[in-house]
Formats: sequence, C-alpha cells, structure tokens
Amino acid sequence: MQQSPVQTAPTDEAAIDALIQQMTLAEKIGQMTQVEKNSIPVEDVTTYFIGSVLSGGGGNPQPNTPENWAAMVRAFQEAALKTRLAIPLIYGSDAVHGHNNMHGAVIFPHNVGLGATRDADLVRRIARITARELIATNTHFNFAPAVSVPQDIRWGRSFEGYSEDTSIVTELATAYMQGLQDEDPRVLASIKHFVADGGTIWGTAQIYEWLQGNWQAPGDSYSIDQGDAQIDEATLREIHLPPYKAAIDLGAQNVMVSFSSWQGVKMHAQKYLITDVLKNEFGFNGFVISDWMAVSQIDPSYSTSVITSINAGMDMVMVPFDYKTFIATLTAAVENGDVPIERIDDAVRRILRVKAWLGMFEHPFGREDLLPEVGSAEHRQVAREAVRKSLVLLKNENNTLPLSKDVPVLLAGQGAHDVGMLCGGWSIDWQGGRGMTTVGTSALDAVRKAGVEVQISPEGTFAGGNLAPIGLVFVGESPYAEGMGDNNNLHLSPEDIAVIDRMRASCEKLVVVLISGRPMVITDVLPKADAFVAAWLPGTEADGITDVLFGDYPFTGKLSFSFPRSMEQVPLKALKQHPDAPLFPLGYGLINRQ
Ligand code: BGC
Ligand code: BGC
Repeated sequence: MQQSPVQTAPTDEAAIDALIQQMTLAEKIGQMTQVEKNSIPVEDVTTYFIGSVLSGGGGNPQPNTPENWAAMVRAFQEAALKTRLAIPLIYGSDAVHGHNNMHGAVIFPHNVGLGATRDADLVRRIARITARELIATNTHFNFAPAVSVPQDIRWGRSFEGYSEDTSIVTELATAYMQGLQDEDPRVLASIKHFVADGGTIWGTAQIYEWLQGNWQAPGDSYSIDQGDAQIDEATLREIHLPPYKAAIDLGAQNVMVSFSSWQGVKMHAQKYLITDVLKNEFGFNGFVISDWMAVSQIDPSYSTSVITSINAGMDMVMVPFDYKTFIATLTAAVENGDVPIERIDDAVRRILRVKAWLGMFEHPFGREDLLPEVGSAEHRQVAREAVRKSLVLLKNENNTLPLSKDVPVLLAGQGAHDVGMLCGGWSIDWQGGRGMTTVGTSALDAVRKAGVEVQISPEGTFAGGNLAPIGLVFVGESPYAEGMGDNNNLHLSPEDIAVIDRMRASCEKLVVVLISGRPMVITDVLPKADAFVAAWLPGTEADGITDVLFGDYPFTGKLSFSFPRSMEQVPLKALKQHPDAPLFPLGYGLINRQ
C-alpha cells in the first residue's frame, strides 16, 4: 500500500479546531463540495481542495472490475493528499444491496426482502460484507441505509424501505448502520432520505423548469418520488422521524436530505427540521449531505438556493456536476455576509470530525488486500441465506410445496433465467438491467444446481401434449430506480398473466414466484396457482429460492408490507379506511416445515 504525506490525525475537538484555523476559505468550501467522478479531472481535486467524490448510480470505471474501482478511487485520494493540508477525501457510492455498481460484487436482496426476514443479525452481517467489499475499493462512504417508511407502494423507491412499519425499519436499518460502522474496517453509513421521503402524496412531484426545461416524465414516472409529504408534524414524528433518532443515538455520522418537500417546502431548505430537530433536538454531531443536484431545486436563482440550503444546515453538497460554480457561489455568499463564516466552520468541523472518526487521516486508503474477497463464495453464502429468509409463502395448496427433487420441472416466465431482473434497480446501472448483467445464479441455474431435471421456456410454450407434473413460473417487475418506478397500476402485465394461463393449462401443479420491488395486486392471479411465493428482488443468489422450494430449508419470511386486494387499497391510508381487509396483511406468511 502506498504511503503519502498525511495530515497528523486530529485526535480531539481542539485539534480539529486548530486544523480549521489553518484553513483558507477555499480549503473550507472545498471540504463541503462533493463531485461526481466523471465531472472532475483528478488534478482539480488538488486545485479545489475537494472533500468528497462520488459514483452515482452506475458510476463505474471501464472496464468495471474491482481492481479498476480500487485504482479509480486511489487516484482521487492521492490527489487530495497532494493539497497543502493533505486532508483525505472521502469517496461515496450507493452500495444499497452490496457494492452493487461493481461487476462481480455479491448483490443481496433489496431492503423490501430483508424486511421480510425480520433478522437484524443477518442484516448486520450483510452490512459487514458490504463494508469489506467497499473498503477493498478504497470507498469509505456508503449512501445507505434508507430509513424510508414507504406509505404508498406506487412509489418507485418502495423496495429501498425495509417496511411500511416504522419499528421494523428502525430495527433493521440501525443494525445495518452498525454493521457498516462498528467494526474495522469502518464504512460511513448515510441515513436517508431526511425526512418523510416515503410519505409523499401521489401527484405532488414538481417540475423545475429552470433545471429540466420542458422535460415531461414519461407515463406515471416522477408522480410521487420527490413529491410533497402533506402530513402534520405529529405524523412526521410518529412515522418518519423515529429511525433518525434511533440511528443518532447509536452513532449515525451522516444524514442525507431528501429531494422531497414537507408541507410544500423543499427539505433542502428546511432549517427547522435539519438544524432545530436533527442537529439540536436529536443531538446529531455528524454531517448532513444534500442529494444529487437537489439544492438547485430550491429556487431559480442558484445563489439563493445555495445560501438557503447552507443556512438551513447543509454541510456537504452533492453538487454533483458544476463544482466550479458551486464553489464560486458559496465563496461569494460568505464574502457578502449571506452565509456566516461560523456556519462554514461548523460544516467543516462536522466533516473533519467524521473523517477523523473513520481513521482516514491515519489510513486514507482502504484495504486493497481485501480485493480477493469481492464476490467470494463465503459472501455469496450469506446472500443465499438472506434470500431463503426473505421469501414469503402466500399460498400453498394440494401439498404443492416443498417440491420433490425427483420430479422434473417446467420453468417459465420472464424471470426464469435473468439475474438482472432478480437484482432490480441500483444494480450495475442506476436503473438496473435485464439479462446476465453480473456474476450470479439465475433461477434456471439454481434449479439445475439443485440436481432437478428442468426444461425452460420463458413464454411457457412447451412441446408435448401431456400434463407436466410441476410448472414453476417467475414473473413480476422489470428493474427500475427512483421516480422511474412510480406506477399507478400494480397488476401483473398481460404478458405475465398469459404465461401463467399457459402453464396452468399444461401443468398439474403450478408454483408462481413473484419478483417485485413491492406488493402487487395478485387477487385475480392467486386462484390460478397452487402455491404462490413473494420473492421480492433477491439479487444474485437464486439458489436461496430453490433451497426453500425444494424443502432443504423452511419458509420463514413474514410480510413487511401489506398486499392490497385492489388499487383502491393503495396507499396505506386508503387501505386503513377501506371496508375490506387487505389480501394479505403485514406479518402474513405461511410456515411449512416438511
Ligand atoms: C438518490 C440518492 C443517491 C444519490 C447518489 C440520488 O438521486 O436520491 O439516494 O444516494 O442519487 O447516487
Ligand atoms: C445518477 C444517479 C442519480 C440520478 C439522479 C443518475 O444519472 O446515476 O446516481 O441518483 O441521476 O437523478
């Protein structure tokens, strides 16, 4: 591992203050600046004293290998250490279900699936593995866990939430944070998105003409993501704030602010919530980071936006592109007295405190010696365990499950041989992708590895007129991320239903496995299946599914979201007011132990 001149590590608050006293305004504002990695030549990290660089969704080096990741981040760090004060830079990425941008990393189930496990120890182990794969690539900052409490499953980020229930979110998200942070090598967790990102109302997402021109979101997309949480403070405190309080009490050091609004005011401008509640009332000592270009949404005047957000308590800005304009704007605002220097010093103190706490002054680089662990068999075993425990058995009639390994299977559906679909969004690319996008085990691979005779036809068209004993169908949602996944129609597609119908007609027993980032409306489809399994977005290890389907392990998962009977029972508020019960309530899950 290379050695570079390193700033003496500030070991206490007095040492941090002494360091701040040596810093010029440019050096301070540089610390507050986070830039997207493709938008900055490496030398500019030195010139502008940049405090942080990030990979956005899909922000991969080419070719996308672990070695190239490590080298890419190492180069940015070397540039930061060339600055006068040699303050280390912190590199961030969205490793929201494993180091998921990186080809070959293990990809765990998305949080919606982990919610069904109710297993905090498992979630902690997943975070440990993620920390090790990140640190292998010199990456110390993970934009996770989401502590969103999604109240409307039409939201395209529902799968990033562990549950619709606050207490489940709090328990699992804090376990995840501790898994990242509480052991060496440490990775900084980001508790996001502050606050009530999961509490916005359908149809309230705004268009920012000064940012997007006349861009219209296609279809339903961006109908609820980044919208307005029109809820009173009591509801905010009851449903959405508790995970933040719990995480802060357990050592949270970073909070990311939400694109969304509360009562019509952008969260990035909410001084009351960021400074009064988060920092003062909850005692948060770490640093607050903005979301991607979200500061720019506050006002058509960029200067007003920056001043408003920094004065509201923003400490680091994910610019992410035009860092020169950001730096010039904030510099002018300080020189004009629009932002007090005490606010800048407070922001820098928080950032330096976290870098010191992570041990980055002593060890600015990660642990490239851990590269051989990336995507290892041991890591994949834990992901496989997570898949097993995340499956929820919704229906099992005629003793259909577990299946016998001695009986041949007809395998169908768009998810039958598609690792990309099983991974969902935030996998290699921001929006995810279809097909063999990374190293992993598809459903077909898993059935074969289980030693079961299998024939595959994604469309469900098999030759031969006889009724086959077992049909296994993988259907559901195609990958999406953020507002692109907002969807007002959560029924299965006509194509998926056609496959199910074809398989129903050609198989004695039919098992449907639903791959989705949220509950879907399956009321009409359920009677067609003998057994029905919710498998969420399981990631790269589909053998966790066959482990349970073929009876090596029992089903133990419980719903962390209610399954509505119809779209009339969406959002959750409508379900609570509806005369009929949901199709399956929170906590539902059949247990089979044969
Ligand atoms: C998302 C964040 C993410 C960031 C960086 C934003 O668009 O809202 O969750 O951490 O991008 O990729
Ligand atoms: C980036 C994501 C980011 C998104 C925000 C994408 O281009 O890759 O990281 O969250 O933009 O709109």
